[in-house]
Amino acid sequence: MRVLTISGSLRPDSLNTLLLRAAEEQAPAGVQLVRFTELAAIPPFHGERSDPGERPAPVRELSEQIEAADALLIATPEYNGSIPGVLKNALDWVSTPFPDNVLRGKPVAVIGASSGLFGAVWAQAELRKVLSAIGARVVDRELPVGLAAEAFTAEGRLADHDLELVLGDVLAELQREVETVPAVA
Ligand code: FNR
Repeated sequence: MRVLTISGSLRPDSLNTLLLRAAEEQAPAGVQLVRFTELAAIPPFHGERSDPGERPAPVRELSEQIEAADALLIATPEYNGSIPGVLKNALDWVSTPFPDNVLRGKPVAVIGASSGLFGAVWAQAELRKVLSAIGARVVDRELPVGLAAEAFTAEGRLADHDLELVLGDVLAELQREVETVPAVA
């Protein structure tokens, strides 16, 4: 199973990118996690909903990587109670053409980390809402990693065993979705 991962943060020291690294460390055999690293190259949305026409190269790249993936795992920071604009902008691009976009029917799981106590729970809920509106098959789980600057071991794993179990459950749930839902032709 090929899982495309996206960190919603562009920061070099992003805690959410570290969270994706922890997911890579924990991924079971047969689950390959591949990171999308070109979020910063995606320009502000300026397409049409039904006919996006010729699209910028980084948007085509993201669309192709989504199509090539069996599932997506997105780690989102919380900015002012919601998801980062760069992430929403990228999702707006790949939500077109509507309704037959590359995310329709695609299994997606959402996780999140924050420097504060709450682990980006609002942002995760917002992101699940956005993905549902786009037509993705959203896994009904969350992984709130609070106080995330202290949350990872030197080896890049989650230090808290309970959080490791939740991350394992999220990956297993994503795998179940892929196995039970036929790929959209
Ligand atoms: C934040 N942060 C934040 N945290 C939170 O729990 N709720 C929030 O609403 C916000 N709002 C917010 C706005 C802006 C503009 C920034 C830059 C930050 C803090 C945030 O959780 C922290 O910076 C994380 O480290 C961001 O994730 P990355 O970049 O480390 O992945």
